[in-house]
Amino acid sequence: MHSAQRTDGAAAHGDTSWWRNAVIYQVYPRSFADADGDGTGDLAGVRQRLPYLAELGVDALWFTPWYRSPQADGGYDVADYREIDPAFGTLEDAEALIAEALDLGIRTIVDIVPNHVSSEHAWFREALAAPPGHPARDRFWFHDGKGPGGDETPTNWTSSFGGGTWTRTTGPDGRPGQWYLHMFAPEQPDLNWNHPDVAAEHEAVLRFWYDRGVAGVRIDSASMLAKDAALPEVGEEHAPGRHPHFDRDEVHEIYRRWRKLADSYEEPRLLIGEVWLEDTDRFVRYLRDDEMHMAFNFDFMSRPWDAERLAESIRSTFAAHATVAAPPTWVLSNHDVTRPVTRYGREDSSFAFADKRFGTPTDLALGARRARAAALLTAALPGVLYIYQGDELGLPEVEDLPAEAREDPMHFRSGGVDPGRDGCRVPLPWTATGPTFGFSGGADTATWLPQPRDWGGRAAASQEADPDSFLTLYRRAIRLRRAEPALRGDAFAWTETTPGVLAFRRGEDVTCVVNFADAPAVLPAHTAVLLASGPLDTAAGDARLPKDTAVWLRT
Ligand code: NOJ
Repeated sequence: MHSAQRTDGAAAHGDTSWWRNAVIYQVYPRSFADADGDGTGDLAGVRQRLPYLAELGVDALWFTPWYRSPQADGGYDVADYREIDPAFGTLEDAEALIAEALDLGIRTIVDIVPNHVSSEHAWFREALAAPPGHPARDRFWFHDGKGPGGDETPTNWTSSFGGGTWTRTTGPDGRPGQWYLHMFAPEQPDLNWNHPDVAAEHEAVLRFWYDRGVAGVRIDSASMLAKDAALPEVGEEHAPGRHPHFDRDEVHEIYRRWRKLADSYEEPRLLIGEVWLEDTDRFVRYLRDDEMHMAFNFDFMSRPWDAERLAESIRSTFAAHATVAAPPTWVLSNHDVTRPVTRYGREDSSFAFADKRFGTPTDLALGARRARAAALLTAALPGVLYIYQGDELGLPEVEDLPAEAREDPMHFRSGGVDPGRDGCRVPLPWTATGPTFGFSGGADTATWLPQPRDWGGRAAASQEADPDSFLTLYRRAIRLRRAEPALRGDAFAWTETTPGVLAFRRGEDVTCVVNFADAPAVLPAHTAVLLASGPLDTAAGDARLPKDTAVWLRT
């Protein structure tokens, strides 16, 4: 395994800025690789596939929650942060994985879910068993209902999963009791961040994982932790930082404390924010020097495949980040959103949770061309690149999962109109043949979500030796991104082009051109084509860049 070890010092111990232009690969452990053959991915499976990740060339792995959880929301309902979910393995497996990955030059990032815990968490069980007014309830948001008999919810806040945000408890006498707040599913009670135990416990959890060698944390729902204790209704407009439960100013104090803790390590640990905020001024507040190191760029991710719309996002991303030290990040998808191959093949190729519907047509060949071009576009931009597992294989969204296989609460809480997020969480295909395409080793088992029968051709093994495959494109792009000094630096300059074509120069000698327009684009003068997302058009003599294609040139 050590043969794949990096020699360029990318993961050298004590390198404190490795992350500023890193490639970070998101592992959804349940669907990555299954070593014990039960149809669910596990940490032993990831360990077996580390050489694949090293070959891909990623700098770090971000694991969606691997802790003990009833999986009411894919692990974002944590019952115990100090234990690995038995379906995924043991704490020893996690420690071995962290160490083995590091031997290959790959760091590990874990997910922290501070807004809520599982309803199976010891604190919540204790709170439920305690009477109203008991201190055990103060770690959460327990409240009497309004109206006669307390039958009405304390507020009319709406959940990001659809529906209300309060569930009523039942007392030991079987009578309806207080209500508790959950901004997501009822199995995810919100924590009360005004309570000192909540802050202390999270700092202890961070230490627990930092001490085990993780390089940083991805912070779930990071702008939601603080709530107005007076529980006002959400109005038409709120002064910045004064919304009842979203992006409140107090939340920053939490990250300031976390940053101090992260900085107390010899190799400072990273804080990566899941911050969905349209207002870029409010967004970059999370990235101030004493807060997080970076946050996901959902603005770019959500935009349609359109030259102007994407250029505008790139411009505003740079402008916003110019005010802070944090690098920009580039994200095409994650475990919550429609896979790019499917999304970019749609008439409306933007992403919005509220717009997801069954039966939205897509042209997968078109989507694949664009997703390849998008991969080169994002990999050419300065900053941190995130890749969601399976995007490097060009996997489409699985849109025809059988109804009984679906698990996502977003689907159920929408009354079944939102297909939910299961379709981007289907177990990866590793080999061309076999009952699970190598996901579960040789086991003839059923994977936790069924894989499409035609995924053999998309398997990693099927793509490995194919020079035109998605996997080869990703491998080459990541390799070049590391090898080319121009792509490692921060220098970026737009190059003038015709409408519908984006072009920018990186450093002294690399130019990226992406053509969104119908007509093949004339390429700027260059001495070599470093990488292209699809074949160039040579019909007119000089090579031109076809529609929905990206190229990296030596200029
Ligand atoms: C964001 C996570 O990415 C998503 O999967 C989860 O459902 C919510 N936060 C709630 O934890």
